Amino acid sequence: MTAAPIVEIRDLRKVYSRMRKDDVVAVERLDLTLGTPGTVHGFLGPNGSGKTTTIRCLLGLIRPTSGAVRVFGVDSTTSFHLAAPRVGAMVENPKMFPNFSGRRNLSLLADMAGIAKSEVDRVLSIVGLSERDGDSFESYSLGMKQRLAIAAALLKNPELLILDEPANGLDPAGIAEMRILIRSIAEEGKAVLVSSHQLAEIEQVCDDVTIIHQGNLIESGTLDQIRRHAGADNVVVEIENRDAAITVLAAAGVQARPRPAERELVVDVDADRSSDVTRILAEGGMYLQGLYAERATLEAAFLNLTGAAPPPPTAPPGDSAQNDADYIADDTASGQTGTGVAS
Ligand SMILES: Nc1ncnc2c1ncn2[C@@H]1O[C@H](COP(=O)(O)OP(=O)(O)OP(=O)(O)O)[C@@H](O)[C@H]1O
Ligand SMILES: [Mg+2]
Repeated sequence: MTAAPIVEIRDLRKVYSRMRKDDVVAVERLDLTLGTPGTVHGFLGPNGSGKTTTIRCLLGLIRPTSGAVRVFGVDSTTSFHLAAPRVGAMVENPKMFPNFSGRRNLSLLADMAGIAKSEVDRVLSIVGLSERDGDSFESYSLGMKQRLAIAAALLKNPELLILDEPANGLDPAGIAEMRILIRSIAEEGKAVLVSSHQLAEIEQVCDDVTIIHQGNLIESGTLDQIRRHAGADNVVVEIENRDAAITVLAAAGVQARPRPAERELVVDVDADRSSDVTRILAEGGMYLQGLYAERATLEAAFLNLTGAAPPPPTAPPGDSAQNDADYIADDTASGQTGTGVAS
């Protein structure tokens, strides 16, 4: 018998009902199968696209309006507790005791979950906080707080780690550290699902990605598959007599345009036709000084696929348009009150 996919979402729909206000369709229709051990899957979408809602459904924290959500083959809505030992998660602002040290916070969580104290050392070391374990949580930088939350999610040594916007609010150095951490966790053999609205972050850390927009699946696949939606790659040519080169290429039916950089031309052909460019120029008696393919970026693909405005470079933590007052009481699915941090 083949094992169930680690995460399986079928036709997920989530509508938030609100008092005296219109309903909000947070997830319209989502199908997703993922979770290869040892890989990082990016869950990408602009603010408000339904990432956190989907993750909450996955963790049994809220009840889908319709559709099926399974983790390790277990229906999250009714029985997430059966999968919980295999899943660690960090969702939006993790709660810790501010006056307690990082170590003490983790020890408490370990005690509650019946996890050996030795595991606290292990996870502190993974997230690089062994040296600062005695400092109070409130004295940690945002990046350290995020790393402690990841350590908490790793306590039970989960097979699946779900991180909702782990780099939110971090500076570039903090984001770089976070990427290294996420990669190293995947290299231990865990399946990692990481959500983000920051494209560059995803691009550098993920093996494959899913893009959602307004609660709908836009595309899912490897980075190369997604990048195909970015429009054509460019071939950039470096050449002494740029204007003459444009004329020679145009005579052969190939469009090219100058770049701001002196001697650089962008040629409108796929990267795999770059040898044609060399040949056409050589036949015209022109020899290029350099030629390289310029890859279409994930960001360009994302914009083409969603028509979304470019996201801001960073957003304050927990800035989804969510309003606690809008929560309705019957939202809780299987009675879970915490994320993997505490569950
Ligand atoms: N508890 C709630 N009550 C009402 N509407 C909600 C609630 N939680 C989320 N929403 C709405 O559902 C939509 C999706 O929100 P969600 O938080 O899932 O998006 P997101 O992709 O995680 O966004 P972000 O990148 O800002 O974190 C938004 O329109 C949001 O306002
Ligand atoms: Mg969110």
